[in-house]
Amino acid sequence: MRIPDELAELGKKRIAAYQVEGFVYGSGPEHAKLMLVGEAPGETEIGNGIPFSGRAGNELMKFLQLAGVTREDVYITSAVRSRPYKWGEKNGPDGTKIKRKYNRAPTAGEIKAHAPLLDYEMEHVKAPVIVTLGNIGLKRLAGKDKKVSDLHGRLLIQPVLRLKDDQYEWTDKKYCLFPTFHPASIFYNRGLLELIHSDMEKLRGLLGNFPMNEQTDQDE
Ligand code: URA
Repeated sequence: MRIPDELAELGKKRIAAYQVEGFVYGSGPEHAKLMLVGEAPGETEIGNGIPFSGRAGNELMKFLQLAGVTREDVYITSAVRSRPYKWGEKNGPDGTKIKRKYNRAPTAGEIKAHAPLLDYEMEHVKAPVIVTLGNIGLKRLAGKDKKVSDLHGRLLIQPVLRLKDDQYEWTDKKYCLFPTFHPASIFYNRGLLELIHSDMEKLRGLLGNFPMNEQTDQDE
């Protein structure tokens, strides 16, 4: 599944005023075993156009294995499709300062700029469970008051937020959301690894209860 080119162009235009670079399409089958919603691509991803193909992606693939799925089974996307960056300095080999770009979390404006893209994917990808990776994806879909540390490893059956006339509103349809931590979180908090592993075991169990590649009819 790939979003229409016009929608990608709209996303690029809507985010052009922000300090971001590149554009990475969501990727995976329309009938997916899971849909994964991350934060925003990093340097590796904007270089090769493949979501979660860098260091965080390597961790994510190990987690998916524990959940019993592969990259080919899942649709991978993120709240923002361009890399938000900030300028910083690092020491060069001769002690001189070198200016370079660092990743940063996307702002509310950047998330809103790309909201129509994620909305489209939420409507068109048929996945029984939507796994949010970290707080950005969770808050984008389930509301600002939600926290991954409170909700990880739980199945939330609820409407999600989508953008209408530049305001977020709740969908009529209910989705099955499964929040877990962003795979990059283990780089600065190794203790989260155990929690993510246990979330993945739960996810594996949950997926066993869903008919493969069939969207559960969650419309009410
Ligand atoms: N983090 C994300 O959320 N997405 C990527 O593609 C890479 C890192």
